[in-house]
Amino acid sequence: MAHDENRPSKHYDTVSGIKVKHTRVPKFLKSIYVILAGWAAYYAITATTINDRTDAVTPVEVTAEAGKEIFNTSCAGCHAVTTQRLVGPGLAGVKDRLGDQELENVLHNGRPQRGMPAPPSLGLNDDQIRALKLYLDTLK
Ligand code: HEC
Repeated sequence: MAHDENRPSKHYDTVSGIKVKHTRVPKFLKSIYVILAGWAAYYAITATTINDRTDAVTPVEVTAEAGKEIFNTSCAGCHAVTTQRLVGPGLAGVKDRLGDQELENVLHNGRPQRGMPAPPSLGLNDDQIRALKLYLDTLK
C-alpha cells in the first residue's frame, strides 16, 4: 500500500501538504492571549477617537486668555507681541494699525503671497480665530 500523506497521525496533521505538529499551547502563551484580549477590551472601551482628542486640546472658550495660548502655539514663531519684527511684524498695536476689518481679513485669509499663512490653514477653527482676535485686540 502506498504511503498516504493525509493519513491522520498521532504526531501531526497534514494541512495543504504541510505537516502541523500537535502540541499543547504553552502556558505562557495562554496567559499572553488572555492579557492581550483583556487589554484589547479595555482599550476598546476607554479609547477616545482622534477627533475627541483634538477637541480636548481645543479651547472651547472664546476668550483673550485662550487666544493667548493659541497665539503662543501657532503664531509666536513668527510674531512678537511687541513692536519687534521677527519673521513677520511685531503685533503691538495691530488693531489700531490695521483696523478691525483688515485684522479680521488677515486672521481668516492671511497674506499667503507675503509669507503670512491663512490661520485656517494652520488648523485653527472659527472659535480659535475669534479668541485670537480678542487677544490681539489687547495688544497695545
Ligand atoms: C510663517 C510665519 C508666520 C506665521 C506662523 C504667522 N504669521 Fe502673521 N505674518 C507673517 C508675515 C511674514 C507677515 C507680513 C505680511 C506682509 O508683509 O503683509 C504677517 C502679517 C501678519 C499680520 C498683519 C500685521 C501687519 O502689521 O500688517 C497679522 C495680524 C498676523 N500676521 C497675525 C498672525 C497670527 C494671529 C498668526 C497665528 C495664527 C500668524 N500671524 C502666524 C508671518 C507669519
